[in-house]
Amino acid sequence: MIPQSFIQDLLNRLDIVDVVDRYVPLKKAGANYVACCPFHGEKTPSFSVSPAKQFYHCFGCGAHGSAIGFVMEHQGLGFVEAVEELARSAGMAVPKEESGTHERRADGDLDVLPDVLQRATRFYREELKRSETAIDYLKKRGLSGEIAARFGVGYAPGGWQNLAAVFPDYQAKSLVQAGLVIEGEGKRYDRFRDRIMFPILSQRGAVIGFGGRVLGAGEPKYLNSPETPLFEKGRELYGLFQARQAIRAAGRVIVVEGYMDVVALAQHGVEYAVATLGTATTPVHVQKLLRQSDNVVFCFDGDTAGRKAAWRALENSLALVGDDKGVKFLFLPQGEDPDSYVRKEGKAAFETLIEGALPLSEFLLRELAAGVEMQTLEGRAHFLKLAQPLVQQVAAPALRLMLQQRLAELAGVSRNELDGLMPVKSPVKPDVIRPRTSRKPPSLTRKLLQLLLHQPELGADIDMSLIGDGSEELKTLKALLDFIANHHAQANTTVAVLEYFRGTRHDELLGKISGEIRQWDEGFEVAAEFAGALDQLREGGRNRRIDELLALSRTQGLSMEEKQELQRLLQGGPASTKSDQTAQ
Ligand code: UTP
Ligand code: MN
Repeated sequence: MIPQSFIQDLLNRLDIVDVVDRYVPLKKAGANYVACCPFHGEKTPSFSVSPAKQFYHCFGCGAHGSAIGFVMEHQGLGFVEAVEELARSAGMAVPKEESGTHERRADGDLDVLPDVLQRATRFYREELKRSETAIDYLKKRGLSGEIAARFGVGYAPGGWQNLAAVFPDYQAKSLVQAGLVIEGEGKRYDRFRDRIMFPILSQRGAVIGFGGRVLGAGEPKYLNSPETPLFEKGRELYGLFQARQAIRAAGRVIVVEGYMDVVALAQHGVEYAVATLGTATTPVHVQKLLRQSDNVVFCFDGDTAGRKAAWRALENSLALVGDDKGVKFLFLPQGEDPDSYVRKEGKAAFETLIEGALPLSEFLLRELAAGVEMQTLEGRAHFLKLAQPLVQQVAAPALRLMLQQRLAELAGVSRNELDGLMPVKSPVKPDVIRPRTSRKPPSLTRKLLQLLLHQPELGADIDMSLIGDGSEELKTLKALLDFIANHHAQANTTVAVLEYFRGTRHDELLGKISGEIRQWDEGFEVAAEFAGALDQLREGGRNRRIDELLALSRTQGLSMEEKQELQRLLQGGPASTKSDQTAQ
């Protein structure tokens, strides 16, 4: 375990501009440095490095972080390896903290979870080497040791408390929080037993969960980690971390349904495949995929379930495809999945199938037409009715226009007639992709997040009780204030905050906010802005309390103290802290 204080020393010693420039040549642009983003394909630079704030941020794909995060992501290294690499370059020796002390400090603290999962991964991988049955199973499925290693495949042995050998404190809260241990009635036991283990990595290469497959028959076939603070199924894609280079090289990404499909495809040289994790494709998935590549191919089994799943993916893609960013659908022959197909037919045959995948527009029209009687007037009317709400979601103007044209042709009406029948409103882009523009002033919560990320020590002046619960932004604001309160000495720079929250559920939002403040400099009126925000926060609390007291006076009357409080508040005094006022 590397002590937090060392991480901060290291970050203070390094200059992120030098670090990034070693791998990606940077150009000066105003106060910052820019380059074409190394993490997604692009022709105009949206990757920027701030020397003042010591972080990098990409407006195209959302990648962001400290020098450590950059080396991890760019070189595909783990946290410890990246720190060691950077320490070496700065001539510093990495001290080791006894792991026991770290765990005690942070039992129940989310920042131990990545480490807990990493250690479990290492254990499962070691166990795989020792289990002949497990090795045999993987061999029978055609996997080489090299591919197993690339995906970190392991084996959880049979038995109820194997992890007790890895974690001396088997009662630690963090084991349950990480989803590795189940709390039964007074008894704890390992979630994964006698299963092949597939670690699920975040986009940055940290283990965030597992999928475990039974060796033979048995239910469930795949057991997945539960949702944890680090792992939300609907956001993650299995194999994305390993596939990134290949996706860039191939200019496309293929989305399959299973762990084994990803691994088997890689085994046969199709290294640009990722999988959803036993869930339907979500808009977050689609957005993530379209950031990786302009060409996304969903690959499903040819059966009814496969077509249904494809339709879901289509519905969630309509608003997100662009005129230059396409989604296609590939249906495999009956009874095949990508794993079985590529093993039988090989890479070339599989890639030929990909070439022939159905564009979204064609899949849309075919499916709709297949559900009605296109030879009757009633059927064609029904067809138009079904198509309308779908076409309305398409945000790409040229694609929408052509879809309308095809609809008119297929239904046998003219474009004018169709437009009369089906006025297409300008589509509303879903929030997941709408970039935050600066035209609308940020909400109070957002403003506070920006200010605190810019200058974390301001957080010491905020009364926690004024912050409500609810939105994701408020949760992040609370977590940030918590960090500032508890880690005073370390929490004094933007990059310290970003580094602390790297890989947590707050990471993405903080990344966006770091993008919003990357132009703020020394001259920015931080003090005035902050005073204004504090006033607003207190004012919000005051108004809320006044409303509360007025309501109370109507229903049950006020006590003497409450009357005095109300009077004080109405004269402009501050709210007391016991009521639950919130930022909005
Ligand atoms: P499939 O049932 O199609 O299995 O599940 P598969 O991928 O072909 O697996 P193999 O080849 O028999 O090993 C597809 C995906 O659905 C999720 C998993 O993510 C799996 O990879 N799934 C399936 C579960 O989460 N739980 C299950 O019990 C079954
Ligand atoms: Mn399969």
